[in-house]
Amino acid sequence: MNTEIVDNIRKAVDIVDIISRYVSLVPKGKNYWGVCPFHDDHSPSMSVSKEKQIYTCFSCGASGNVFNFIEDFENVSFREALKILGDIAGIPVDGIKIKNNNNINKNLYDIYDISIKFYTNNLNTNYGIKAREYLKNRGIDDQLIKTFQIGLSLPKRDMLTRLLVKKGFSNKDMVDSGLIIKSDYGYSDIYHNRIIFPLCDVSGNIVGYSGRIYNGEDESKYINTKETAIFKKGELLYNYHRAKEECRKTNTVIITEGFMDVIRCHSVGILNVVATMGTAFTKKHIMLIRKLAKNVILMFDGDSAGAKATESCSNLLMEYNITPKIVRLEENLDPDEYVLKYGKEQLIQKLENPINIMDFKLMNLKNNRDLNNSTDKANYVKDVFTELKKIDDDILREVSLNKLSEDVGLNIEFLKEKLDYKKNNQTTYQTIKPIIKQEKNKSKYDKAQMYLIYYMLKSDKVIKMYDEKVTYMPNEKYRRLATYISCFYKDKGYIYIADLMTYLSQFEGTKEIIGEILNLNLKDDYTISEINDYIYTIKEYSLRDEIKRLKKEQEKEIESFKKAEIGMKILELKKMEQEERYYDK
Ligand code: UTP
Ligand code: MN
Repeated sequence: MNTEIVDNIRKAVDIVDIISRYVSLVPKGKNYWGVCPFHDDHSPSMSVSKEKQIYTCFSCGASGNVFNFIEDFENVSFREALKILGDIAGIPVDGIKIKNNNNINKNLYDIYDISIKFYTNNLNTNYGIKAREYLKNRGIDDQLIKTFQIGLSLPKRDMLTRLLVKKGFSNKDMVDSGLIIKSDYGYSDIYHNRIIFPLCDVSGNIVGYSGRIYNGEDESKYINTKETAIFKKGELLYNYHRAKEECRKTNTVIITEGFMDVIRCHSVGILNVVATMGTAFTKKHIMLIRKLAKNVILMFDGDSAGAKATESCSNLLMEYNITPKIVRLEENLDPDEYVLKYGKEQLIQKLENPINIMDFKLMNLKNNRDLNNSTDKANYVKDVFTELKKIDDDILREVSLNKLSEDVGLNIEFLKEKLDYKKNNQTTYQTIKPIIKQEKNKSKYDKAQMYLIYYMLKSDKVIKMYDEKVTYMPNEKYRRLATYISCFYKDKGYIYIADLMTYLSQFEGTKEIIGEILNLNLKDDYTISEINDYIYTIKEYSLRDEIKRLKKEQEKEIESFKKAEIGMKILELKKMEQEERYYDK
């Protein structure tokens, strides 16, 4: 890796500026604060330091420099993150070579690579005539087939199995991919005689399929690939990688229930659409949505199940301070059917005028209630209050109160007073203070190692002290990190944490440890004697550890002269321990 260009790109951009493009940051003290996009949070626990050019999350421990942020946020490789930032900085990165990390699931991805070629090809053969006809009847033309890589599995039950065996995949890999099943008769394909819709992860790799019946069999409509090492339904949204750009451009993401709805929207030029894979909405989904756009439109099926899903999904979104807008479709239609029946313009019209969440809720709460009946009316007001308390938007609350006042014929001031009273007497939905994790019962030895590393990150003087005096850190993870820091310093001749982060990217798991240590938030200045204390504690531990080990050995030993030999060693170490203390103080 040509570290000079990498460091130059890092220096040419400002981490606060870059992260602000994705997360809103608020300055507070020395740092900037925002909601951490890397765990399911709703309060600002991520700090971004302009001075250090790094980010750290107090809650989940995520930390890194600007490259790490782009890698994790965009789910891209280091190479791609470099390219994105190089473009912003105006520094070309074409010449830089970066070795690819070995992917442990490479075989599974390869199986999907091969199987999608196989399935898409099937659709174009004579066996695919009926399926093509089915797609055509549904208004799915060749362009859409290509874009969404739609394919076909044939009636014979072992065609993919044979192909994969021929390509040299092991039985285990085949079964692990979720595409092949082992039965009493041997191995066979999961998918046969179904139209194949690939499902991609957030980076656009195919990781699963949904197979649809198409000639009227009486079976389940879709069969989805089971969860595998690379396919987690609750963690992906259909069309995420294709919709990303348009979502960012329009700052709006439209969510539908089915992937056919996504494909239909795409066919009429609405590109900022994603769908869940027939599963309930998860926190992971929300984190993905949050990365796409600020404005969220829920356009679920027009039936009552769709209304229910809208309700529960919007409640979950609101827990994360996202206030969605709602599109409801008449006649129980889903977006796909709606476009086919009423046309593109009518759907666009709906999307341009979505109802706000409170109107949707008022509408639902009014349903089946007779507002001339006092009990119904009182219950209605109570329910609306409950909903209003979830709203994070003052204007929307005021507007809705007005509507409520009209609905029930009660004075708005009276309603407001009641609502405020209730609000003040209940814990509100969200707190805005950062959650700061306590150092949970760390031993004094772990603390000493962490503290020492903390100051190694700040000063080359401390690195030098470490190099001279610490021969061995007892805790493996701190030992590794300290060694890397020392190597980085030897290599570069300076210590700057943001550049160190780039260097650490090649060592799995070290970023998290740094995050943990940075979260200690120790005071800025230190004294040499404090550093010596940490070093002493570390050495003391190493000696005690060795003494403990020798004592055990001595107990087990049967030969008495060997017992005595070990005893001598122990004495020597004990003496060292005392001298150590004397020497360092
Ligand atoms: P829908 O039943 O609304 O599907 O299920 P759809 O989009 O209208 O599909 P078509 O138009 O009948 O072809 C919504 C989503 O639920 C999942 C699928 O992911 C689908 O997109 N689903 C549905 C299944 O996984 N299995 C099923 O049997 C049905
Ligand atoms: Mn449909």
